[in-house]
Amino acid sequence: MVDWDRGSYEDTATELAPAAAHVVQRAGIEEGHTVLDLGTGTGNVAALAAQAGAQITAVDPSPRLLEVARARVGEGEFKVAKAEDLPFDDQSFDRVLSLFAVIFSEEPEKAAKEILRVTRGKALFTAWEPVGLMNDALGILGRATSEAAQTPHRRFDWGNPDNVKELFGDIGVERARITFEAPSAEQYLQRFETRHPAGMAFRDVLTRNGNYPDVRAQALAALGDDRPLRVTSSYFIFTVESRAAG
Ligand SMILES: C[S@@+](CC[C@H](N)C(=O)[O-])C[C@H]1O[C@@H](n2cnc3c(N)ncnc32)[C@H](O)[C@@H]1O
Repeated sequence: MVDWDRGSYEDTATELAPAAAHVVQRAGIEEGHTVLDLGTGTGNVAALAAQAGAQITAVDPSPRLLEVARARVGEGEFKVAKAEDLPFDDQSFDRVLSLFAVIFSEEPEKAAKEILRVTRGKALFTAWEPVGLMNDALGILGRATSEAAQTPHRRFDWGNPDNVKELFGDIGVERARITFEAPSAEQYLQRFETRHPAGMAFRDVLTRNGNYPDVRAQALAALGDDRPLRVTSSYFIFTVESRAAG
């Protein structure tokens, strides 16, 4: 399991800023809207929603990241909480936004119920589409880690819209893309394994298992040897209208 308090997720958060801007724009936030940023991390979405005039509530299971978000966003309510157990009344929020965060839930059914419960307008959340070089590389590391730790790889595949429909009912599905850049694949991977909480978890488990160098080499090869590294990943923006809104 990933400990999001570790390392420096801040670096990756910066890379995800264009996706945050895209989702906030799609959310159609109006002055005074109540917005929940679910799994806020360093506050990418919360900061932009605040600029759009929203009243911000942000939650994250990582106390360290939540403090980074609080310092960045300023006004609002910041709480340590998980998607599966949201400490809010029914229909509290005009918008519930979750940028690559609810996809880490270990109990997706519970998380979906909670999102539907606290939303009175609509919820938008993103998930990676399982295609492309970055997906291949991280898949190699993730699958090997699950095998070593004897845990199922991807308990629930958020990258399949049919699965997400089963959880939420009717959803809007939009595809978007984001590009990751680094001087080389080697430098990208070095940063991932030493600073990203998930990369650090993969490295720890596989090092203990004795096969990290081998799996790392496979992941590196999957990223290719272009210099600079420039990899585009595709993701879904799922939109769920509140039952209460209809
Ligand atoms: C990839 S980061 C995304 C952070 C932020 N939304 C962004 O776009 O930069 C994943 C975030 O999900 C949070 N997270 C992990 N499990 C979660 C859960 N069950 N419920 C809510 N957030 C969770 C992590 O603490 C982390 O901040």
